[in-house]
Amino acid sequence: MPERLNLIAPDDWHVHLRDNAMLTRVVGRTARLFQRAIVMPNLRPPVTTVKAAEGYRNRILDAVPSGLSFTPLMTAYLTDGSDPDELERGFTTGVFTAAKLYPANATTNSAAGVTDLSRIDSVLSAMQRIGMPLLIHGEVTDSDVDIFDREATFIDCHLIPLRERYPDLKIVLEHITTSQAVDYVGSADRNLAATITPHHLHINRNAMFAGGLRSDFYCLPVAKREQHRLALRRAATSGDCRFFLGTDSAPHSREAKETACGCAGIFNAPHALESYALAFEQEGAIDRLEGFASLHGPAFYGLPVNQTRVCLAKVDQLVPELIDGLVPFHAGEILPWTMISSS
Ligand code: DOR
Ligand code: ZN
Repeated sequence: MPERLNLIAPDDWHVHLRDNAMLTRVVGRTARLFQRAIVMPNLRPPVTTVKAAEGYRNRILDAVPSGLSFTPLMTAYLTDGSDPDELERGFTTGVFTAAKLYPANATTNSAAGVTDLSRIDSVLSAMQRIGMPLLIHGEVTDSDVDIFDREATFIDCHLIPLRERYPDLKIVLEHITTSQAVDYVGSADRNLAATITPHHLHINRNAMFAGGLRSDFYCLPVAKREQHRLALRRAATSGDCRFFLGTDSAPHSREAKETACGCAGIFNAPHALESYALAFEQEGAIDRLEGFASLHGPAFYGLPVNQTRVCLAKVDQLVPELIDGLVPFHAGEILPWTMISSS
């Protein structure tokens, strides 16, 4: 009998499920591994209203393969014109779990994002008052700032002042990629947490240039130097409840990745849990995977811990080169863990 890892069912606190045909292609991959997921709102057009979020939630539920129980947790896309009353209505009626801040033009479908934080003061005040979490894509967009410094610069220039202005606002710094983010989140006494992706635990920036230009490893924020990957591994496996699982699985068609101006995003949903398990095992911290994957997120969001369990077995699996026409993270590699059941 191979070694087994029995875990409280995990949640994905940051995922892109897209819409229409792509939604149908990918949603089962997330729903198979995760009980709930925070669904990003960067559709075209973005999900800015309660009505749009309700419609999107229904389309997600309709696309979940039968037999899987999965709860999408919806987010509102903040714009310069976001209406605090609309956000409050969405949050208090349980449609919105959180709101997502994309600095305008920071990443995929973020053109309608926020151009200046001062423009959403009334929104942030309302969110602070009602306890609605703010999820942040933490990068500055100034092209004069080196792309590898954009997260650290965001923390210094925007996040620190923002937290001074709104000390009671609950914030998740999403998909952190730097030791500066690890240190800053780790030093916060309350109301601040961070998600960490599987790919940022496994690759550093060399992956994008190994033997040629490798668009399948291009995502935003971009992977950084090795010292940062190691800092992320230490944070994820530390047992510190401020760090939790968020895959940032972001599928793009092959044509959209392999072009002169390829899209940012790594499709890691199919083997996300096995990928995290490998990283935790490599760090000698497999016993801390359950906290990171299943306990810290619900604690931050004030949601119940899942009642069901999943089981991973120490069984090799070869990750296919293509899954449903998309290149998955770890394509062509053998992962030493395999998800065998959920109950
Ligand atoms: O790599 C990324 N892809 N980063 C993001 O912030 C957005 C995402 C997407 O939607 O494709
Ligand atoms: Zn994302």
